[in-house]
Amino acid sequence: MNRIINPKDNRVVMFAIDHPYFQGPTTGLRNMSKTIKTLLPYCDCVMTTRGAVRSNIALEDVGLKPVMLRATGGNSVLNEDLSDEKLTVTIKEAIRMDAAGIAISVFIGSANQQQTIMNLTEMINQAEEYGIPVLAVTAVGKKMARDLRYLALASRICQDAGARIIKTYYCEEFSRLVDAVSPTAVVVAGGKHTSAPDSLQMVYNSIQAGAVGVDFGRNIFQDDNPIGMIKAIRSIVHENHTVKEALDIYNACLPNASKLD
Ligand code: R5P
Repeated sequence: MNRIINPKDNRVVMFAIDHPYFQGPTTGLRNMSKTIKTLLPYCDCVMTTRGAVRSNIALEDVGLKPVMLRATGGNSVLNEDLSDEKLTVTIKEAIRMDAAGIAISVFIGSANQQQTIMNLTEMINQAEEYGIPVLAVTAVGKKMARDLRYLALASRICQDAGARIIKTYYCEEFSRLVDAVSPTAVVVAGGKHTSAPDSLQMVYNSIQAGAVGVDFGRNIFQDDNPIGMIKAIRSIVHENHTVKEALDIYNACLPNASKLD
């Protein structure tokens, strides 16, 4: 856990670039090597797939940052229902790749609810034998309501299954969700790319509500100013900056900003 969440401040900036496992070459991740080279230095941990580690993280970067290894899949955005996932990586493979943690999606309330919860529990049973924490990803999908009632329900199910970290979306009264799963660590997903002020406000609100950090993807790698965005996020997560102070950091990087492919 200390490789993932900084033990000094109990916070983490996790950078999510696992999207191609079901979205293909999405904007910002078409050139994975470039995205990784550009942004890896500013994150604490990178959430990605074994294919990305094997084929895109340049040799000199391997081992630079802890990997949160995605280990479920089996679907694509071409299907209406994304919930039909199974385990895609064995525990032996995760150990061989020196994964700091393993990420498993659950789809509570979906047609495949039981299967995805069993994916989570099966991996927890195996990973705990080797001291590898499992992160549960909740509520990715087109049909999920993202309100407190749903997200707290999904998050608490993940905690009770034995997840060490819960990744969920931000919602109104988010501190009640954090309380409902305390002391399990909660990280917030970014969702669709939005404006820098809105995105940074969500980071700020999440930290204020008790999240240990964020696991953001599109709001970083699809932004016009990706380095400015991740630096601004870091300042809120690790230095308790206000949104205004973080925006100053974002704006200071704007003159040299360039979009990712
Ligand atoms: C989706 O299944 C993936 O786990 C993404 O990493 C997750 O949704 C977070 O990325 P974003 O901040 O782009 O929503």
